[in-house]
Amino acid sequence: MSNISLKVNGRSYTVDIDPATPLLYILRNDLGLQGPRFGCGLGQCGACTVIIKGAAVRSCITPTSTVKGSEITTLEGLAQQDGRLHPVQQAWIDEQVPQCGFCQNGQIMTAKALLDRNPDPTDAEIREGMDRTLCRCMTYYRIQAAIRRAAKLIATGPVSGKEVGA
Ligand code: FES
Ligand code: FES
Repeated sequence: MSNISLKVNGRSYTVDIDPATPLLYILRNDLGLQGPRFGCGLGQCGACTVIIKGAAVRSCITPTSTVKGSEITTLEGLAQQDGRLHPVQQAWIDEQVPQCGFCQNGQIMTAKALLDRNPDPTDAEIREGMDRTLCRCMTYYRIQAAIRRAAKLIATGPVSGKEVGA
């Protein structure tokens, strides 16, 4: 066991853990952040995705010791402190993306990282950038529409559904 300092959603934490413990377990069980989900536990589905140094990272296969001191963002850290949603979250609502919802943390976090590095992705770039983040409910077309909508929201500010289109 050892003390590891983490910075998550702008807050600092120190946890006394086995350094090999997957980050996902620390986020959910020690810090009470339930946004990232346990899906496969093998780095294959994306449900556990968080953002570290601007990149979408699968926290189920990330030893916590490897991210000490890094800025970690979870789904809980996307909205503004006054409650305003991140444009990706708003676009997800506008497009009514989720079905069962289980995968959607991974979809939203991966989309956010994609738009941060490429604010105006083509459909092909969206498909590639979503990095095989799996959805058993097959919401992929609505995810793609929501990413296009989020890109417009980020570029122009909030607009009505009719203006954005699908
Ligand atoms: S739970 Fe981490 S990739 Fe599936
Ligand atoms: S919404 Fe059900 S798995 Fe994606």
